[in-house]
Amino acid sequence: MSIKVLIGTQWGDEGKGKITDLLAEKSDVVIRYQGGNNAGHTLVVNGEVFKLHLIPSGVLYKNILCIIGNGVVIDPEILLKEMDGLVARGVSVDNLRISGNAHVILPFHRMLDHLQEEGRTQDNKIGTTSRGIGPAYTDKISRTGVRMIDLLDESKLSDRIKEKNWGELLGVTEQQIYSVVQDLLKFGERLKSYIVDSVSLIHKLRKEGKEIFLEGAQGTMLDVDFGTYPFVTSSNPTAGGACTGSGIGPTMIDDVIGVVKAYTTRVGEGPFPTELKEEIGAFLREKGLEFGTTTGRARRCGWLDLVVLKYSANVNSLTKIALTKIDVLSGMKELKICKAYKINGKIVSDFPSDREILEKAIPVYETFKGWDEDISNCKTFKELPKNAQIYIEAIEKEMEVPIDIVSVGSGRERTIIR
Ligand code: GDP
Ligand code: IMO
Ligand code: MG
Repeated sequence: MSIKVLIGTQWGDEGKGKITDLLAEKSDVVIRYQGGNNAGHTLVVNGEVFKLHLIPSGVLYKNILCIIGNGVVIDPEILLKEMDGLVARGVSVDNLRISGNAHVILPFHRMLDHLQEEGRTQDNKIGTTSRGIGPAYTDKISRTGVRMIDLLDESKLSDRIKEKNWGELLGVTEQQIYSVVQDLLKFGERLKSYIVDSVSLIHKLRKEGKEIFLEGAQGTMLDVDFGTYPFVTSSNPTAGGACTGSGIGPTMIDDVIGVVKAYTTRVGEGPFPTELKEEIGAFLREKGLEFGTTTGRARRCGWLDLVVLKYSANVNSLTKIALTKIDVLSGMKELKICKAYKINGKIVSDFPSDREILEKAIPVYETFKGWDEDISNCKTFKELPKNAQIYIEAIEKEMEVPIDIVSVGSGRERTIIR
């Protein structure tokens, strides 16, 4: 029996879906623990592409139980669409379970997300996915939220929704509020058989000796506590979030696997010290197909940043690394890795928590030789070109965490296990 947590070490889209799908094969249970349908996790199996937003990335295996934990915020309409989409493609969702304590994203939260973003100045725009994530978590924390279990009881649901004065906040009418309640009850009716007491279920499975895998969404630098605040999401994608988002305590966790993309990307606004705005950034975007899985937006691209990665190794207490998309770097003459920042003339190797200081950071790079070979068919570390091995070993040495998995393509089989 073991419990593993998988997290994103950068600004999301590191390839968490691919690695979860790969490692899920040896698991009995896969749990999503935070975030919502702001996430977009891509799985490529036998050439077929699956884009998941809420359903854990273990769903393609028949025997794996997939649980949406208490820490997730759920848009029930989107969840049902995702379930229907999978069923239409022949993937069963019978093994899905949903925590009754997970909070609900209401249509009003989506409206608020949109309005809040419109109201921000150019300087403060976050570039959210406009899925209602921030407002739903706000209501959870201010104790005015609606939970999945509430969708099964009309009077409770109606009371919960009326606790907030949506009419005054958004100018919606009584009739609109009534019809939202009616829609939610219909969604609840369809989801009823999937809603469970997830904490009891998880601990029952744990006691039975099941292999449990906790799948994070977003990434460390988007964490509301540890990320580039306020340009973050509204949850804790870091390893601690796996505990509060599932009900498993920290002493039970055996491994924390950090997914590291071989370069850096970010979608949405906010600081990004190693961003490449010219040709090389465009090369990475085109070759790495760096366009958002959820919103289709072009991802900002840049060099690998070890200041970020070492910080990430610390705040997540990483025990292992899965390095992804190294194949995208083939064909580059030289590669750079940021080893420190220069701020006001001083060399800084700790990630600055102050936004204004971070904005002044100038990356200090070490240059590595590139390689030309297509590496997407490599099956062992030794088969990789020498310069790719040097690049990987440099990351491992600096992060002081073993790189156990090297991903060389989007397909499940394009993976080197060391
Ligand atoms: P996630 O949000 O962390 O699950 O990542 P996304 O799915 O949003 O983005 C990662 C993208 O890279 C997806 O299109 C994956 O299919 C793709 N991908 C994952 N690993 C690799 C890899 O090693 N090489 C290449 N070329 N693509 C990869
Ligand atoms: P996965 O799980 C990349 C970003 C948004 C925005 C900020 C806040 O696929 O890695 P939100 O809608 O969460 O309030 O937006 O966070 N963001 C992501 N970026 N990958 C994601 O998820 C993201 N989820 C949110 O672009 O900058
Ligand atoms: Mg993604």
